[in-house]
Amino acid sequence: MSLIPVPPPWQISENEITPDTVYYNRRRFLKSLIGTGIAASLIPLNGCQKSSSQTALESSLQLPKLPNIQPSPVFKTVDRPITKEILAGQYNNFYEFGGTKNIWLKAQKLPTENWKLEVTGLVKNPQTYDLDDLKRKFPLEERVYRFRCVEAWSMVLPWVGFPMKALMQAVEPTSQAKFVRFTSFYDPEITTGPGFHLGSLPWPYQEGLRIEEMANELAFFAVGIYGHDLPKQHGAPLRMVIPWKYGFKGAKSLVKVEFVAEKPATYWNTIDPNEYDFEANVNPNKPHPRWSQATEKFISQGPGLSWEIKETLPYNGYGEYVANLYPNTP
Ligand code: MTE
Repeated sequence: MSLIPVPPPWQISENEITPDTVYYNRRRFLKSLIGTGIAASLIPLNGCQKSSSQTALESSLQLPKLPNIQPSPVFKTVDRPITKEILAGQYNNFYEFGGTKNIWLKAQKLPTENWKLEVTGLVKNPQTYDLDDLKRKFPLEERVYRFRCVEAWSMVLPWVGFPMKALMQAVEPTSQAKFVRFTSFYDPEITTGPGFHLGSLPWPYQEGLRIEEMANELAFFAVGIYGHDLPKQHGAPLRMVIPWKYGFKGAKSLVKVEFVAEKPATYWNTIDPNEYDFEANVNPNKPHPRWSQATEKFISQGPGLSWEIKETLPYNGYGEYVANLYPNTP
């Protein structure tokens, strides 16, 4: 078991991440960002004298506890420890707020008041839910899931939410519904702030599943994490969690779920289909065109910021639940 220290913030500066104005080719620009690995920008954690950044980070994570949450009887542990909250909360991908991992502060601009989720398309009972409706109508539970990013880092996260299939039962998709499109919040006045101009990218962030994938026991909507409401950097107030797929399938800050007949276009797949396929199942035997997927950097406890190299598991370790969805995969 090897522990590799994560470079401290001064080792790779934000300046090394070239701004997009240098590039005319958005694909090349994005390639320079995704896969930058654990590229700095982490707040040095100091127990004695806290910096103002550390205090601000901690307060972004201090959110109302979700009452009476039952741990899932099935998904309550995995073979590795839960990632420390302070690490998960400052190492995020949320491109609406910038192209580095260090977006937690910018993401605090996300307006989550009076949030509405529209569930529409090929369903018998279209609905518009507010967050309280969702928390009241669906049975909330905590599920500890492995989380594997396509960039080959991983965590273990304790999500709070409800199975996607419960929402399907409520809206009743018709027999024409074959796919589901999930759309994230996007407002160019709020997101993609100064210094990071992603206007030409295929916003809003959208993801898609086959209807059978959405009906799988594991597919989950999270409204919380670590026992409390979702912090903005994790995709407040509601996001997808699909633990057998790469993390980019888990669209954040959802505003719309739409049942459709045709396979929907999705954000990363539109940008580069060779690098980010629609299915995106975690597969150690299928390398990304620019790096291996055989192992991953598991970020867990600290006390220093460090990762542990682990072998990547097919379907991220969830094959017993999902392999039957992919009969043609060897
Ligand atoms: N959702 C939106 N709307 N925008 C994003 O940029 N990034 C995805 C996914 N969902 C992303 C998103 C990627 S690449 C990953 S790895 C996960 O969110 C990261 O989730 P986390 O920051 O909560 O760990």
